[in-house]
Amino acid sequence: MTSRIETAASSQPGTPAAAAPVGPKAATDRPYSPGLEGVIAAETAVGFVDGQNGRLLYRGYPIGQLVEKGTYGRVAELLWTGEWRRSAHLVPTAVPEPVMCALHELPDHTHPMDALRTAVSVWGAWRRPHWPPTVDQAREVTAMAPSALAAFHRLRNGLEPVQPNPKLSLAGGFLQQLTGKDPDPADARALDAYFIVAAEHGLNASTFTCRVIISTRSDLASAICGAIGALKGPLHGGAPAEVVSQLHEIGSPDHAEKWVREAIARGDKIMGFGHRVYRAYDPRAAALRKVAEGMSDMAGWLDTAVKVEDVVLRVFGELKPDRVIKTNVEYYAAAVLQGVGLPPDLFPPTFALARMAGWSAHAIEQASADKLIRPDARYVGPAEMDVPALGSR
Ligand code: ACO
Repeated sequence: MTSRIETAASSQPGTPAAAAPVGPKAATDRPYSPGLEGVIAAETAVGFVDGQNGRLLYRGYPIGQLVEKGTYGRVAELLWTGEWRRSAHLVPTAVPEPVMCALHELPDHTHPMDALRTAVSVWGAWRRPHWPPTVDQAREVTAMAPSALAAFHRLRNGLEPVQPNPKLSLAGGFLQQLTGKDPDPADARALDAYFIVAAEHGLNASTFTCRVIISTRSDLASAICGAIGALKGPLHGGAPAEVVSQLHEIGSPDHAEKWVREAIARGDKIMGFGHRVYRAYDPRAAALRKVAEGMSDMAGWLDTAVKVEDVVLRVFGELKPDRVIKTNVEYYAAAVLQGVGLPPDLFPPTFALARMAGWSAHAIEQASADKLIRPDARYVGPAEMDVPALGSR
């Protein structure tokens, strides 16, 4: 049966029949990619993850050079504006009163990732950042978040929060607000390097979440809260803490081979290995390994980690020859985060502090594209049927 529109067009004498409108194919006719693997869902100029060649570029600059020549403040500014400026600084700011009140109310057993998400949510309720997100909003939330996380950590340990020292970098100020003392400059620099390395990574799960939320013309605080939720999962941001317990469980490199083979046979994931995009050594792992090698306190731990890594890579090569599984960023992130004295449950929210720059850069970019992200699902449920009559119960 033809539609009324087609009938109207074709009924005019001498007018050729209108071509049938070309609409989207039914979802059943289009390819389905579980986990959206290989699907291009955005165009970005923020960062380039070159998985085949093990390269990571922020606005064209290689990650290794940014760690050597940059600071997190300068790199965040680069991600937000595309400009590489000596004068770019980002210093920790005090926790706003409404955020501090909310942190005081949280139970001590709150997961620090939930505390950080709450802090950003209250910041949003207080500041009401408008759509589209701006660089000023990005700077403000990125500079407040480390202070909020440090305040929560002190409160849960029965300590009063301390004011940030504005002469320190964001990473240094985070350490200072955790401990109440100005940090060792080497530790501050090592954590700053971690912040740079973790700042941005293409369309990963949390950044995608952030872009989806912004695409609805929602605000930056909501988008970052969603991104923190995505990052909380152990397959994304929870890995470094598990790397620490994994190495603890293995104990000595002599036990690594047996442990790894048994874990793979059980179908367990070895934390700190494998990546959706990289089919080569993760350049962030290489950069952080260099940083960790410069941390004298980590020498023993690092020696074990390097030996275990060699075993894991060899066993993967043997047992999963068709899938290239290499070391990912989280393996050596564990060394740096432990080396600066962070407890393992602060690893995931510290990752979130660093990624705040990348999330907000993507939020700004997504808003300028201003296109709602709304994919389709392939329906695999029952065919249409009548609703059955209900009995008396
Ligand atoms: N340990 C054991 N097997 C692995 C690992 C691993 N770490 N990584 C991949 N594999 C295997 C899978 O078992 C699967 O094997 P199969 O085809 O025989 O079933 C194959 O490799 C493909 O793995 P997937 O999980 O399907 O690959 P995907 O691209 O979906 O996963 C992921 C990537 C989630 C990172 C995975 O490698 C993993 O779970 N790694 C451990 C957790 C981790 O370190 N996460 C941090 C990632 S970095 C980041 O998010 C910042």
